[in-house]
Amino acid sequence: MRIYAVKNYEEMSRKAANIVSAQVILKPDCVLGLATGSTPEGLYKQLKDWYQKGDLDFAQVKSVNLDEYRGLSPENEQSYHYYMKKHLFSGINIKAENTHLPNGMAEDEAAECMRYDNVVKRMGGVDLQILGLGGNGHIGFNEPCENFAKGTHCVHLTESTIAANARFFDDPEKVPEYAFSVGIRTIMMAKKILLVVSGKGKADALHKTLFGPINPRVPSSILQLHPDVIIVADEEALSQIDRSDDKSGDIYFC
Ligand code: GLP
Repeated sequence: MRIYAVKNYEEMSRKAANIVSAQVILKPDCVLGLATGSTPEGLYKQLKDWYQKGDLDFAQVKSVNLDEYRGLSPENEQSYHYYMKKHLFSGINIKAENTHLPNGMAEDEAAECMRYDNVVKRMGGVDLQILGLGGNGHIGFNEPCENFAKGTHCVHLTESTIAANARFFDDPEKVPEYAFSVGIRTIMMAKKILLVVSGKGKADALHKTLFGPINPRVPSSILQLHPDVIIVADEEALSQIDRSDDKSGDIYFC
């Protein structure tokens, strides 16, 4: 595990965008695993800027998103389809047919989960998976639970996640209770994982991610078992991390 310790959100966004750019330059037809939430917004903005300057080309890139709210159509401004269009896809030359998200409007839950797992499989796996971190340690919408979920599943969101995401909705009552999310197995099968973390509100979750017991009650703790994780985190997010906590010497601080 490598941790890039940066000062603030701006530096985190730029460093993370550099890592994604390197992936796109080294493998122009790579598969990017994409995340939503406020944390990667700055990273996506930076990628758009570099694309517009002519430094990046997404013509052959394929993408697969982690999750989508159940019951929200792509036109709904709070859907992750809408988010991706707004924050990334509309500003780069990725082909619409190469971008994938779960269908939040699917009526047959099991069929949609199977369809989405097959989408990921057909792509041959994810080269670089971008992840944000929920305050409770969720990744994608894999909420704390008794067992790590394997494939795509429909999740009943926890009250804390609904409350945290209510800030994006004009009416907090409208936050969906359910979402489709890829499973932990899918995330763990990515060749490389880039976790971006910013702010004090994530400090406890980040500490548990790195040093807590590997436990589905903190889903992000499973990342300790992945062979190639890069974390870009700012000072506030790292405020509970003491380098001497790394007894195993597994973590390389950059
Ligand atoms: C949502 C998303 C996650 C994201 C998390 C953190 O629940 N499904 O993929 O990582 O929120 O969001 P934020 O970055 O806004 O704190």
